[in-house]
Amino acid sequence: MCGIIGYVGKSSAAPILVDGLRRLEYRGYDSSGLAVMNGSSSLATRKKSGRLVNLKTLLTESPVAGNCGISHTRWATHGEPSDANAHPHLDQSAKLALVHNGVIENYQTLKNLLEKEGHEFVSQTDSEVLAHLIGRAYDNSEGTDLKMRLVSAVRDALKQVSGTYGIAVMHADVPGFIVGARLGSPLVVGLGKGENFLASDVSAIVSHTTNAIYLQDRDLVYLTADEFTVENVDGAESAYEVSQVDFTPEQAEKGKYPHFMLKEIFEQPTSIQNAFRGRLVDDQASALLGGLGLTPRQLRDVERIVLCGCGTASHAAMVGEYMIEHLARIPTEVEIASEFRYRNSPLDKNTLVFVISQSGETIDTLAAMREGQRKGHRVLGIVNSVGSTIARESDGGSYLHSGPEIGVAATKSFTSQVTVLALLALLLGRMRHLSVDYGQRLLREIRELPAKVEKILEQTDAIREIALKYIDAPGMLFLGRQFNYPTALEGALKMKEISYIFASGHAAAELKHGVIALVSPEVPSVFIMPRDSVYEKNVSTLEEVKARKGPVIAITTEGNTDLERIADDVIYIPEVTECLNPILSVIPLQLLSYHFSVARGCDVDKPRNLAKSVTVE
Ligand code: G6P
Repeated sequence: MCGIIGYVGKSSAAPILVDGLRRLEYRGYDSSGLAVMNGSSSLATRKKSGRLVNLKTLLTESPVAGNCGISHTRWATHGEPSDANAHPHLDQSAKLALVHNGVIENYQTLKNLLEKEGHEFVSQTDSEVLAHLIGRAYDNSEGTDLKMRLVSAVRDALKQVSGTYGIAVMHADVPGFIVGARLGSPLVVGLGKGENFLASDVSAIVSHTTNAIYLQDRDLVYLTADEFTVENVDGAESAYEVSQVDFTPEQAEKGKYPHFMLKEIFEQPTSIQNAFRGRLVDDQASALLGGLGLTPRQLRDVERIVLCGCGTASHAAMVGEYMIEHLARIPTEVEIASEFRYRNSPLDKNTLVFVISQSGETIDTLAAMREGQRKGHRVLGIVNSVGSTIARESDGGSYLHSGPEIGVAATKSFTSQVTVLALLALLLGRMRHLSVDYGQRLLREIRELPAKVEKILEQTDAIREIALKYIDAPGMLFLGRQFNYPTALEGALKMKEISYIFASGHAAAELKHGVIALVSPEVPSVFIMPRDSVYEKNVSTLEEVKARKGPVIAITTEGNTDLERIADDVIYIPEVTECLNPILSVIPLQLLSYHFSVARGCDVDKPRNLAKSVTVE
């Protein structure tokens, strides 16, 4: 949540910062701002509430010049979205500028203390308190090495705060110098030639450099155009690695698509293929997930599995639960990460915990991982973002290899997560009772998924027509059973997130236990009902909705034309084995919510109040 980019080099900083903020806007879009230094001890700040375009307009009217700057795009936590609450924040002397992601939990106590000393605050944010605290420490320090005075002031202030931070700081006394630090909020250093960057996400800097250092918690970094130093916030040495960013700048652009969400929906044939590429082992009729780092004996000893995640990742986990229990017969549970971290869930020693996260930075998922590790469990990650905190701190795991996902509503990460979980279920199943024949069939079916997804994507126009029919619907129900119960939850989440209508997902048979009260001619029900073992049961439920004049959109298997008699609209998906069905059935739901949202004039890629990566509690 919130995005930071800082630049120090020989080019004009403002265009680089604004372009970086454009790429980071998915992390928050309540306001944006920058501070630039022109090398002659003066600091120019521009900030504006609302979308980045407002800052751009301000910069056209009132440009800033300089080769060093820091900037921020905000997702509001403390204080409403306003110009005053936008970052950067200045200290009392107005010579120090700071941008901050995270939450300073003891900010009120610190603010009271500083106010008693005469500090005046212009915003309601916790971040401004940190700017004042660092500024005060700098002003109270002595010495001629101004750079090291600033570094010490940052250290000194950070010792006094509790909470989380990813920060970038500049001081007018020290031109061409940026200090950054992180605890709980991601921060990456980008190393260029004669220029260096600091950002909360590599997507902001990938068009300038692919050499990156993913800072660890409690790291502090200071940068000039030609040099960088990474230390611990306490001043001790900190080991770091220079990594290569694994995606191209083009991958982080919309290309020919009007929205990132649509681009990412259409990338799924490739992203699913990338999730299983090199992981199918034909001669063993099994899967290879080498990153788990477990011996066959250790995998054989697993007696229970816990899958943790938030939002879409938790829905993928639910599909995983059904798949692992079905294919491997290992008791599996899904824990919402925010609950798991505070619940005293009894886990025995043969329990394997997985945390599932696209970003690898979601604070609750991260905390769940650490809680699992604290209890002595091996916690494995299923993560998309290479170098993210979960990727680094987990005890092994599997990458999704989906490429950057920028649309706030997760799409391709869901199908990739389910694909990796299917491989895990197959691997565990083949170590137990799953037959060679069944294993081979699954491998064949997994390989066929990308082509089947293509066939569904070809129906985008027809799905758009269906979405337009229901454009005034005040709400929508999503119903599915077994493997498609989580898909129903995911379909409802997509609809809520980007269209702002009430939508709820249910296990179809639960309809009679309350949900049926919501059925009316204005509220469509989306049934996910492929021709599977529960198909007939779903037909009965569908009839119950129709008997109450509820419109029905049915998603079913190609060739099953029976439903055209009873449902108002039918969307067909290719036949696939039951446990893999959610990978196909979710695609029409993604397209339905996308077209619905566009037709209602919503901002698909930046839905109100949401942010892609939730890094605050
Ligand atoms: C936010 C996003 C969701 C996402 C969830 C978990 O709520 O809006 O789309 O599913 O975070 O994110 P993660 O990066 O951990 O998968």
